[in-house]
Amino acid sequence: MSFFTNLRFRLMYRRGLTPWDSGVPPPELIEVIEGARRLPAGRSLDLGCGTGTTTTYMATNGWQATGVDFVPAAIRTARAKAAATRLAVAFLVGDVTRLRDLPIEPGFDLLFDQGCFHSLPEAAQPAYAGEVDRMARPGATYLLYAFGRQPERRRRFFPKGVTPDEVRVLFSDFELVEARPGTDPFGSHWYTMRRR
Ligand SMILES: C[S@@+](CC[C@H](N)C(=O)[O-])C[C@H]1O[C@@H](n2cnc3c(N)ncnc32)[C@H](O)[C@@H]1O
Repeated sequence: MSFFTNLRFRLMYRRGLTPWDSGVPPPELIEVIEGARRLPAGRSLDLGCGTGTTTTYMATNGWQATGVDFVPAAIRTARAKAAATRLAVAFLVGDVTRLRDLPIEPGFDLLFDQGCFHSLPEAAQPAYAGEVDRMARPGATYLLYAFGRQPERRRRFFPKGVTPDEVRVLFSDFELVEARPGTDPFGSHWYTMRRR
């Protein structure tokens, strides 16, 4: 884990600087949970789950959902929100690049990441990809939202981002089924991948 990335996120949660924390699941997730591309409910893993909105949404729809985030305050909020629903949702404080340190079994049917992967230092991305590979059962769906490559002048405020080609290379154990352009910021995509 990068100490500085961890510290930055801890400070952001402490100060309430969490513009991503919309409190509603994105349409792209709704589509695979209860919409046109609906998957049969199974085990889901929410990587960098923040305050757990998407994890608990999956649990509400019959999924056995687990959320992981390395900011304890975010996980405390996630647990409190889930408790209000009386659903069993597992929230763990941990590093998504070191999932082997956590008490979770591989074999997930759905892996979801909205905004965590692109926050990782570039050097940590292969470890993350290795953990995603290990956690997914063959045929599993991996839904990833990631920023596209940002110009140098924006990198003080935005992560560097990735291109669809880089995603294809990094997650080579997955078939890239779709790279749907997002709107904000420029170059972002919703990637749908399937574990080979
Ligand atoms: C942009 S936020 C998105 C949070 C959540 N997915 C959402 O959409 O509300 C990125 C999240 O990834 C978490 N994160 C970043 N790097 C991480 C790591 N190495 N291990 C675990 N969580 C991490 C941050 O703490 C933060 O909650």
